[in-house]
Amino acid sequence: MRGAIREWAIHRLGASGEFDVLPLIGSKEFVAWLPTFLEASRVLYPEIAYPTYSVGAILASATGTPVSVDPTTWPDADLAWINSPSNPTGRVHSDDELKAVIHWARANKCVVASDECYLDFGDGIHPVSILSLTSGDNRNILAVHSLSKRSSMAGYRAGFVIGDVDLIARLREVRKHAGMIVPLPIQKAMITALSDDVHVKEQRQRYNSRRQRLAPALQRVGFEIEESRAGLYIWCTRREPDWDSISWLAELGILATPGYFYGAKGDHHIRVALTATDANVDEAVARLTQAASLQIFT
Ligand SMILES: Cc1ncc(COP(=O)(O)O)c(C=O)c1O
Repeated sequence: MRGAIREWAIHRLGASGEFDVLPLIGSKEFVAWLPTFLEASRVLYPEIAYPTYSVGAILASATGTPVSVDPTTWPDADLAWINSPSNPTGRVHSDDELKAVIHWARANKCVVASDECYLDFGDGIHPVSILSLTSGDNRNILAVHSLSKRSSMAGYRAGFVIGDVDLIARLREVRKHAGMIVPLPIQKAMITALSDDVHVKEQRQRYNSRRQRLAPALQRVGFEIEESRAGLYIWCTRREPDWDSISWLAELGILATPGYFYGAKGDHHIRVALTATDANVDEAVARLTQAASLQIFT
């Protein structure tokens, strides 16, 4: 399995130079425990983000600080998380933004963990891995991946991390003593999933087609779509408190997530998931279109 991950890292992510790989029991446990394993006391994460980055800082009794995309504004830290494509916003870092993060990691001797679990789901854009931009010097850099998203294998709990050889050796030592070991049948399923790209392409088309149907329907009822260039979500706002948007959608029988769940800055946005079935997405589009025609959103 490690060979399969290594091959995939070289051919799919463009990794080069010295790097190691480490299987995970899904990527969430790693996000939650990395600050503890690194004995980090200062952890940075995006100001609108997947909540487990903050939970990990709390578990480690570390100070968690939400930060903007621009690393020149970041305070000193032991660990900085980035997440491109982002959950919940679907924002994708440019190559220059990723290079700025690598530069910051080197200048500050700080570990950067790049959560890239949505990398395969660009919509007219090709998100890249931080590992393709390190010029083979992967010190202090970790890229986190998950088959939950790429191969819809969330129930298998299958993820892995790729990067700094010394860091991964340290993490492996602790993790094996903590029983964080991927079972053999899951390892075999991971090898099979990584050897195939066709299902990933099909799934990408499925999500993008749902986005292309849902986005205009949300716009018709007054939502402005922001970012949402990749990943499994639409991030949008009606410039009203998030719970007002959520309640209004709930009246139509449509469930979305309040942006506040991802940080205080998200409190006027909502996250709409593209993980519902095609039939349910079409039904939501029909209800939104009907609401627009009746103008019941004004
Ligand atoms: C940004 C991000 N990272 C990590 C995860 C964890 O996924 P898993 O534990 O299934 O690999 C998720 C799940 O939603 C996520 O959105």
